[in-house]
Amino acid sequence: MDNLKVLFTQDEIDKRETQIAKALDEEYKGKEIVAVCILNGAVFFAVDIMKKMETVLVFDTLQVSSYVGTESTGNVVLKKDIEADVKGKDVLVLEDIIDTGKTLKFVKDHLMAKGPNSVKICTLVDKKYRREEKIESDYNCFTIENKFVVGYGFDIDGVGRNIPYIGYIEE
Ligand code: IMP
Ligand code: MG
Repeated sequence: MDNLKVLFTQDEIDKRETQIAKALDEEYKGKEIVAVCILNGAVFFAVDIMKKMETVLVFDTLQVSSYVGTESTGNVVLKKDIEADVKGKDVLVLEDIIDTGKTLKFVKDHLMAKGPNSVKICTLVDKKYRREEKIESDYNCFTIENKFVVGYGFDIDGVGRNIPYIGYIEE
């Protein structure tokens, strides 16, 4: 990918995640939580942030699909549900990005229907100015403008996820 520019370096990502992990440990002090990673994109972020956390957690995954190319289709479908029983539990959703908010709105509603004590959202990137749904992330690492990001879990048509930093495609 030769038109990829660096947006956040590995070091910047690591430092920001350390701060967020600390804030999450404060939030969940003395509690056992269920951490839900949204497949596939959030895997890289979820693994790194969970390793920085001291909170006792059960790890689970959920998969939805909605995105084709660089524009969201808007219709979100559940491809894989979580396995943990989250009734009465505190749930932390780990997601790569909040863009229009359609994906996380769907995910939050879906999880809330299972009767948890709480559902909080932690994102790596927030494209704040693109929001179409009334939903916000509770903990976010980086706020960006309308750039299409690739790397550290972000893909363009399936590839680029293993690039170790967050890059963006120069238009
Ligand atoms: P939303 O439903 O519009 O909030 O979009 C969220 C989903 O869109 C994420 O889970 C990503 O898979 C995808 N997405 C949004 N922006 C980007 C981007 O810049 N790069 C890669 N994927 C993106
Ligand atoms: Mg995703």
